[in-house]
Amino acid sequence: MPSVTGVSGRRVVVGVSGGIAAYKSAELVRRLRQAGAEVRVVMTPSATEFITPLTLQALSGNPVHTHLLDPAAEAAMGHIELARWADAVLVAPASANYIARISHGLADDLLTTLCLATQAPLFVAPAMNRVMWAHPATQQNCSVLQQRGVQLLGPAEGEQACGETGAGRMLEPEALLASLGVYWLHGVLAGCRVLVTAGPTRESIDPVRYITNHSSGKMGYAVAEAAAAAGAEVVLVSGPTELACPEGVTRIAVETAANMAEAVQAQVERCNIFISAAAVADYRPLSVEAKKIKKHSPELSLQLERTEDILAIVASQHDRFTVGFAAETDNLEQYARDKLARKGLDMIAANLVGAGLGFNADDNALTVLWQGGKQYIERADKKTVARQLITLIAERYHAQGTS
Ligand code: PMT
Repeated sequence: MPSVTGVSGRRVVVGVSGGIAAYKSAELVRRLRQAGAEVRVVMTPSATEFITPLTLQALSGNPVHTHLLDPAAEAAMGHIELARWADAVLVAPASANYIARISHGLADDLLTTLCLATQAPLFVAPAMNRVMWAHPATQQNCSVLQQRGVQLLGPAEGEQACGETGAGRMLEPEALLASLGVYWLHGVLAGCRVLVTAGPTRESIDPVRYITNHSSGKMGYAVAEAAAAAGAEVVLVSGPTELACPEGVTRIAVETAANMAEAVQAQVERCNIFISAAAVADYRPLSVEAKKIKKHSPELSLQLERTEDILAIVASQHDRFTVGFAAETDNLEQYARDKLARKGLDMIAANLVGAGLGFNADDNALTVLWQGGKQYIERADKKTVARQLITLIAERYHAQGTS
């Protein structure tokens, strides 16, 4: 079973056609290998004018294939074998010329031949001057490819090597990697029902004041979105946030920890997996004042009581695959392991908060722990992190079911 990014353990042929963006292929190959993929590179002759096969050989750890009729390369792994070997073919950069040839079914070099001979999914990352991209011939060729099920990745807009600005830049390697990850995420939770909590809770002090925290809900919403992309039926119990509900997800809006506990209890019975990403208030005022508290005295004490620990209740009362989050400022792994054991969880995703990570940040990084296992998910935007987390949850959930 492939591992954490969805890319790990996959066999990827990276096709490089001739264009200035070929220099980014080196980083793409490096990132794919770092993510655990096996990589073989096929270059068109003109691509070798922009970047040397030696560079891509060193980064991929495999000989680079450049010619269709090269006896040495064919002896090592023939083009048909290569076409069969691939779990995916990613052509990046894809020049206007390559796109035109492949859309017409030409097979006049190794790369186009391989693209015709493979049954693996084909991903194409166009890179060219903006006028060439906008040309009706290119647009028509791309439509033909899409109708055949080829996945076009990009292009992005921005400054181009030719000095112009517009659409035609190759997507960055990280975005290409994430797109492959999403492709392989598809279906890993098909038939599962996933319940996710997200955001903060608000605990009223009086009619105008409340206790809350800095959670934006971004992490939990990204997790819900990734679970839906993985084929699950997803219910999201959300504290107050500004975020739009992810497509295909059912949202139940709540305010307090008590509301959240009630909504979770009502939903959890019909779910297979519970993921608790919410920053639930640990304490609430013992009583809520009916009228606005007046500032008559220089000091004011509030008496607080513990809220219900929703996650611990689910873990102890229901036989669900239960995933907690731990937000810590120090001793990350030790505190998270304590919570994993104390709350009886199947898995915990620990995040260090601060320095642009965690609460109300766009990025996160997770140390994911389970009994006898650990996986680090490196810093990235929360959607990317969430997809990796969901892949890992799916692996552990299925492994538990079959153990
Ligand atoms: O929302 P964002 O701005 O994107 O930020 C994301 C996040 C930092 C809030 C998120 O990644 C995260 O770490 N959520 C859990 C934060 C937290 O409060 O952790 P905790 O250590 O207090 O709680 C541990 C676990 O118990 C959590 O899964 C929590 O949801 C759950 N819990 C806690 C208290 C409580 N009364 N009931 C609970 O279910």
